Amino acid sequence: MIPFLHENNRLFAEQVPVDTLAEQFGTPLYVYSRAALIHQYQRYQAAVSEQDLVCYAVKANANLAVLRTLAAQGAGFDIVSVGELERVLEAGGDPERIVFSGVGKQPAEMARALEVGIHCFNVESLSELEHLQAVAAERDQVARVSLRVNPDVDARTHPYISTGLKANKFGVPIDDAEAFYQRARALSHIEPIGVDCHIGSQLTDIEPLLEALGSLLALVRRLRADGIELQHVDMGGGLGVSYEEGEAAPDIESYIAAVKAELDSEGLHLVLEPGRSIVADAGLFLTRVTLLKTGEEKNFAVVDGAMNDLLRPSLYGAWQRVLPVQPRPGQPTTWDVVGPVCETGDFLARDRELVLAEGDLVAIMQAGAYGFAMASNYNTRPRAAEVMVDGEQAMLIRRRETLDDLLAAERDL
Ligand code: LLP
Repeated sequence: MIPFLHENNRLFAEQVPVDTLAEQFGTPLYVYSRAALIHQYQRYQAAVSEQDLVCYAVKANANLAVLRTLAAQGAGFDIVSVGELERVLEAGGDPERIVFSGVGKQPAEMARALEVGIHCFNVESLSELEHLQAVAAERDQVARVSLRVNPDVDARTHPYISTGLKANKFGVPIDDAEAFYQRARALSHIEPIGVDCHIGSQLTDIEPLLEALGSLLALVRRLRADGIELQHVDMGGGLGVSYEEGEAAPDIESYIAAVKAELDSEGLHLVLEPGRSIVADAGLFLTRVTLLKTGEEKNFAVVDGAMNDLLRPSLYGAWQRVLPVQPRPGQPTTWDVVGPVCETGDFLARDRELVLAEGDLVAIMQAGAYGFAMASNYNTRPRAAEVMVDGEQAMLIRRRETLDDLLAAERDL
């Protein structure tokens, strides 16, 4: 399923010409394909069994329309804050299909999650377990928990999005896991039901994931010998997408088949928390060239989108494809595509061979994940609008912010 394609020299989002979206909704603009979103989710759903749980990682793209689309497909959700929880509930998500991750859950967040009856808390420390016990006891409820184990494998991805090493703040070292489960078993309002890990994001190779799974299964067996029977293994998210030409994205179906082959023989259910691999390909970031600035060493295409709209290139040096919406004939020039923000790090792309003129529209691809979700108001820039395309239709799913929106919280004092 390829949602964005050129036809007659014009980029389309499903059946809608992208230039018409710019006319109708303005730029900068996030554009999502509903069909692509559903397609990727269904690939996951089709590969797992009924007892398994595919929990979309809300942080990747938390727009209500995105969540509503996935909830209608029966998706579960991986949340990391009460804010994400309220979004999922508002979108019609089933609380019983929610897992709650994160190193620093507040007591009020735990209480709300217990109130609505989420499936499981992914606990990241012994201290958090004690806090959760206290909150659950106060409410006279039982909290189902999974321990996030740090299997100490190298995910071989960018250090900022690698999370499974001993030096990372996430999870509990696998050697301390048994003590954790012993304690969990002794607590009156805690029920241990699973074990989880999330070793990193944008993994292009599934080998480290399978290595982590091996450590988790060895732990499950040790626990079983101790009389602690777990029901599920949660492998987190992490499958990468193809940002660059030739960069292979791991195959969802083969990955799940490999994991399930191990779990089925142990009678364990699978939980997954995919974010990027569901939404990245379903979105692009549309921006217009304000002006061209040629220099001795560098040529700059200054666009109306910036690092505050799409942070990944600045923050991680991430490479995302740039496509002219209506390609021009001619000799390409090497451009840095930069925004108007006052930072040298404000670039969306560097050293790209493109034929550009002022006023042209360009699309930054694979922007559906960690795009709008990481946007800010830096430089007092209102955040972009978001549009969802469905066949021939385009729906505004988030209006462009106004300066009034930005100033309101300060004026209200
Ligand atoms: N589960 C947990 C506990 C996570 O921390 C994450 C992502 C996911 C699931 C979803 O992982 P995914 O399937 O998307 O790889 N902003 C960065 C990515 C940060 C990922 C944080 N955790 C980026 O733009 O590359």
